[in-house]
Amino acid sequence: MQRITEPELMTDKAQAEAYAAANFEQAHNLIVNAFDSNFPDMELKGNILDLGCGPGDITFRFANRYPLCRLLGIDGSDEMIRLANARKRREPDLIDRITFNKGVFPGALIPEGPYSAIISNSLLHHLHHPEVLWNMVKRYATSGTKILIVDLFRPQNNKDALKMVDTYSASEPDILQRDFYNSLLAALTLREIEQQLLDAELTELKIKKISDRHVLIFGEKS
Ligand SMILES: C[S@@+](CC[C@H](N)C(=O)[O-])C[C@H]1O[C@@H](n2cnc3c(N)ncnc32)[C@H](O)[C@@H]1O
Repeated sequence: MQRITEPELMTDKAQAEAYAAANFEQAHNLIVNAFDSNFPDMELKGNILDLGCGPGDITFRFANRYPLCRLLGIDGSDEMIRLANARKRREPDLIDRITFNKGVFPGALIPEGPYSAIISNSLLHHLHHPEVLWNMVKRYATSGTKILIVDLFRPQNNKDALKMVDTYSASEPDILQRDFYNSLLAALTLREIEQQLLDAELTELKIKKISDRHVLIFGEKS
């Protein structure tokens, strides 16, 4: 099945609010656990950069898991940044360690770091030019930076995409079901990601299929 891109930014208020209200407990914990298991025996310190942070659920989970880290989440949607900052006000204990900035990739203003980790969930499939993500990883990772990217991968065909929507989001609001379907069609294949990493000369990154729809791209900058 050919890739069908979707709009990059999630700027619609109803869409952003539905996304922020969705229950990602299991999926997002899986991402923190994936970081733990792929970079074991390490008490992470320093700055973590979360690219395409959305309403910040993963940013908050990392802040809770790694109390010695400061988190910077960047997203191009005003609505998402508004929701992330609203949540920050509800979690005053974390207020000093989390910052959310609006920025559209490429070209967003991102401090130089250094970053102990660069994380990103579900940004890659939104990008019409996926190399934008790989260029940021190359630009902002320094020796020792842990990199962990998670995204959907594209199903074989339309029928499989519809089946996944039914299996995993039947109880979600229509708007989320629609977004999930569009995201599956916009996602890359494992082979496409492999080629992009080669093109970007990010050969230290490994690709691992972690579910019937998710792929993990991870590694440490040499
Ligand atoms: C599916 S959401 C994922 C949000 C968050 N990482 C999470 O896992 O909950 C994708 C986010 O990427 C942002 N995004 C997409 N393209 C972008 C771009 N070119 N620049 C900045 N943000 C972008 C969208 O606005 C949206 O908030």
